[in-house]
Amino acid sequence: MDAPRSAAIENLMDERRTFVPDPAFVARANATADLYAEAERDYVAFWERLARERISWSKPFETTLEWDLPFAKWFVGGELNVAYNCLDRHVEAGRGDKVAYHWVGEPGETRSLTYADLLREVGKAANALRELGVEKGDRVAIYMPMIPELPIAMLACARIGAPHTVVFGGFSAEALSGRINDCGAKVLITADGGYRRGKEVGLKHHADEAMASTPTIEHAIVVNRLGHGVHMVPFRDHWWHDLVGRQSADCPPVAVDSEHMLYLLYTSGTTAKPKGILHTTAGYLLGTSFTHEMIFDLKPDDVYWCAADIGWVTGHSYIVYGPLANGATGVMYEGAPDTPSWDRWWQIVEDYKVSILYMAPTAIRAFMKQGPQYPAAHDLSSLRVLGSVGEPINPEAWLWYHEHVGRGAAPIVDTWWQTETGMILISPLPGVTTTKPGSATFPFPGIKADVVDADGVSVPLGGGGYLVLKQPWPAMLRGIYGDQERYRETYWSRFPGMYFAGDGAKRDEEGYYWLLGRVDDVMNVAGHRISTTEVESALVDHRSVAEAAVVGVKDEVSGQAIYAFVILKASGEPSDALAVQLREHVAYVIGPIARPKYLMFVPDLPKTRSGKIMRRLLRDIAEGRTLGDTTTLADATVVDTIRENSGSAEE
Ligand code: PRX
Repeated sequence: MDAPRSAAIENLMDERRTFVPDPAFVARANATADLYAEAERDYVAFWERLARERISWSKPFETTLEWDLPFAKWFVGGELNVAYNCLDRHVEAGRGDKVAYHWVGEPGETRSLTYADLLREVGKAANALRELGVEKGDRVAIYMPMIPELPIAMLACARIGAPHTVVFGGFSAEALSGRINDCGAKVLITADGGYRRGKEVGLKHHADEAMASTPTIEHAIVVNRLGHGVHMVPFRDHWWHDLVGRQSADCPPVAVDSEHMLYLLYTSGTTAKPKGILHTTAGYLLGTSFTHEMIFDLKPDDVYWCAADIGWVTGHSYIVYGPLANGATGVMYEGAPDTPSWDRWWQIVEDYKVSILYMAPTAIRAFMKQGPQYPAAHDLSSLRVLGSVGEPINPEAWLWYHEHVGRGAAPIVDTWWQTETGMILISPLPGVTTTKPGSATFPFPGIKADVVDADGVSVPLGGGGYLVLKQPWPAMLRGIYGDQERYRETYWSRFPGMYFAGDGAKRDEEGYYWLLGRVDDVMNVAGHRISTTEVESALVDHRSVAEAAVVGVKDEVSGQAIYAFVILKASGEPSDALAVQLREHVAYVIGPIARPKYLMFVPDLPKTRSGKIMRRLLRDIAEGRTLGDTTTLADATVVDTIRENSGSAEE
């Protein structure tokens, strides 16, 4: 594992500006500094109090935490239903007419669903799943665009205790079938397609291709989004509007154990096989809803917009479960930020008077590139809290966000967390924390983080190292589906007794945390983690390729872009056309997000004597730097040859 990259440390260390909370905000803030003190005294008692106060239980829990490292059980003995907590209880309390989602389709149509609407639709969808034979514990795969039926499908699963696995709609058929087969899903919920960048994007043909090699899938439910018909396989495929449309809305929620599996979400690992990150019920619901209310300062009349895709964990925790458990009014948008033009998002903020906006630094940088005239042309005065997630936010982007979106007034919460953590773990509390551009500031109350050196020893303030977590938290992953040894090995073996997040971090003299990115080779493109191995495997999958190595290089818009070095088989002839074909091949095999931006044909690759590719050197070459340490390099002439070629990378 590489040491944290020093360039990132230098970059972030330069920032010295601070932003003190506005007294008017402080006076009304949900969070107070007392939370830190209470959690510090006894973190188990802290979460116990919150769980009793915030969750509607069918059966109260007996024990707050059973911690058999690295396996946690929270709220043991309790029973509950997540859909009940997200829907029924709000309707029962007389808030059925409150809007749960304002949905905006990319072509311009809109739908608003109240909590009562959502409860009805979820009941029908849950009954449809029942009709197809789905029972408590059965897995359901979901592969959909950003349409209301997506959260409805997830909640329908939760209502009957069937864990879901949502596969991002941009993923390929192969990625979908791999995930379905890993968890043995019985039903697939999909759509004919959706809209992206003004175009129709078909999904059903990918779903069909996937289902050709998924023996466990018995049925598919297909939402009719595009409306011009797709091939439907008799008895297997059912239109949503037929099957769901004819169901009764009455579907009693199934009470499940606190530790019942709520969902699996697959992340790219450092090996080719994605990891099924396992989340359970009560702790996840508590962690997501409480952080959502505190970190975004959610008030009953707020309009909250998390502009992520539900296919990623940010959407699971902060579009669906956290906000709905809190009875929030949310915005959901189907398409791209530049369609039909670069002011689409600002138009939505203005139209719906969005007061809380949560997005990724990659989007902020894309907006920055276009210029401030787009947000300036709209009334953004409703915005009062801004969030950032997915990768380190550079101080410059933070300041642009602050000035041009938040008009110098709205506090920014830079939230650090992971698919594995389920909930935000490091973030400012607005109204409490003095922020610094580029710093995620401090661990959330009840979270014990640290920065340690290679021996697991805490690094004094002012130093950098590895980010670790030293005590369990309610929304933490409960393991990797079907492979608990890999769970132990991946997260708990590097530093005994600690969860290793895989990120580098430093703390400044005042104890502020500054995230430095992944310490291994996983690339972060537009906020998405993509493993080098997966992209390499996809390249090698092509008939002309003998070997490949990929690295992430800095990119103004997407954070990192993928740079691929490819060795062809003797029969292969390097050409521009082949470079295009290989990049498309990666997009086909693992999805467009992994398509290399640059591709270079090389005769050889720099390797250690034991045969490991030295990606660090490739990164140096790709970014035009002087080479670092080359003493472990097996054949030094390789680097020179690659460097001579490096001007000719295809974009
Ligand atoms: O490297 C960190 C980065 O994204 C990783 C988690 O990615 P994923 O599981 O896809 O979840 C993304 C959304 C939670 C982390 O290990 N990351 C996420 N948020 C931040 C961040 N890096 C720096 N600052 C953040 N705020």
